[in-house]
Order: sequence, then C-alpha cells, then structure tokens
Amino acid sequence: MPTIIVTTRDGIEHDLDAAAGSSVMEAIRDAGFDELLAICGGCCSCATCHVYVEEGGALPRLSADEDDLLDSSDHRTARSRLSCQLPAGAADGLRVRIAPED
Ligand code: FES
Repeated sequence: MPTIIVTTRDGIEHDLDAAAGSSVMEAIRDAGFDELLAICGGCCSCATCHVYVEEGGALPRLSADEDDLLDSSDHRTARSRLSCQLPAGAADGLRVRIAPED
C-alpha cells in the first residue's frame, strides 16, 4: 500500500496509506481531510483538488485539460497539480501540500 505524505493548510504533515488504484485526491478525501473539496469527484473539471507536489517520483505528465484548469487558480506554481490526476501508486512517499483555496 503506497504511503503519501500530505501537508494540510495548517502546516501539519500526515502520512496516509492509499488504497491500490486510488488517486492522491481519493486518498486525501478518504482520510477525512475536507479542505480538499474535490467537487467534481475526479472528472478533471473543477480544480478544487489543487496540490503542490513537494517531492515525488515518476508522475504522469500534465494533460491539456489539467493545465487549463490550473490556469484558473490564483495560486498556481511550477509545483501545481490536480491531485485527482495523480495515481497514488505512482510514487511511494509522494509528498504533497494542499494548495490555498481559490
Ligand atoms: S476533483 Fe475536480 S479537478 Fe480534481
């Protein structure tokens, strides 16, 4: 079971065990962190699952849709990703920080 290290908006780090085949967004949501709204449920249409990847392995490339959605955020940085587009198993020990709310 992959482990993801998530820093919530209060700056506290949490180690989460992600279910096989889940996305990073699902792992965060299933752990009960309601600050990651994930309104569209992972359809890549809301950008409310925005995270900063602070450390990670081989992540999938940014798609055009994800890129467009991230452009709608005032808080986009070079580390921005939509957590629903990141398979939790892509990198054991993946470290992400939940981005500020837009
Ligand atoms: S949950 Fe809506 S874009 Fe990720």
